[in-house]
Amino acid sequence: MKSMISPSMMCVDFAHLQDSINLLTKLNVEYLHFDIMDGEFVPNYTLGPDFMKAVRDISCIPFDIHLMIQRPEDKLSYFDVRPGDLVCVHQESTVHLQRVLQRIRDMGAKSVVALNPATPISSLEEVLDDIDVILIMTVNPGFAGQKLIPATIGKIKHLREYLDTHGCQHIPIEVDGNVSFENAGLMRSAGADIFVAGTSSLFSKDSDLYTAGQKLRTIIA
Ligand code: DX5
Ligand code: ZN
Repeated sequence: MKSMISPSMMCVDFAHLQDSINLLTKLNVEYLHFDIMDGEFVPNYTLGPDFMKAVRDISCIPFDIHLMIQRPEDKLSYFDVRPGDLVCVHQESTVHLQRVLQRIRDMGAKSVVALNPATPISSLEEVLDDIDVILIMTVNPGFAGQKLIPATIGKIKHLREYLDTHGCQHIPIEVDGNVSFENAGLMRSAGADIFVAGTSSLFSKDSDLYTAGQKLRTIIA
């Protein structure tokens, strides 16, 4: 499956937002990744609906909305979801997973389920028909700048095998957390398709955004 880049907007240079969006557009990134946190499901707060609206006003790149919040089924309407967006909820964040996945699709968006590092792939057995993308957290959610949990590389590989043996070859795998240049190669080999790129690659202090984007694109091709 074609590899895609979804820049983690919590890592963007907020003082140069327009310039950053222009460069991300030039890089043809497939999505913009918005980490939404409620201080309950994860011990942090990051981006919100007003910031998303500001970006909507200056960019036509589809949104990849990562809801790290409790009871997402009650809060979908906060985020101006549009057709073509990805909307991601955590398997661990709701007792109504099937209902919220259906609601996301009813809004014209693609439904994404995220699994924390400790959550088994088998927990998705009963909702495979309701899922468009599966996101594997390769760090514990909540903060940029963390280190990859090594076991998650094997989990990506296991998930690809699991999906292929369950008639779900069409479901791409998204990875999120410490997607460094080195880790991106390992993740791609393990079966990852959509790469959430943050401080470890795209927004690394070691290089400019455009160069980093070209380097990442080459690695995951
Ligand atoms: C972790 C965040 C990640 C993070 C990625 O909860 O969801 O998207 O911003 O950035 P780095 O590369 O710093 O892990
Ligand atoms: Zn994320």
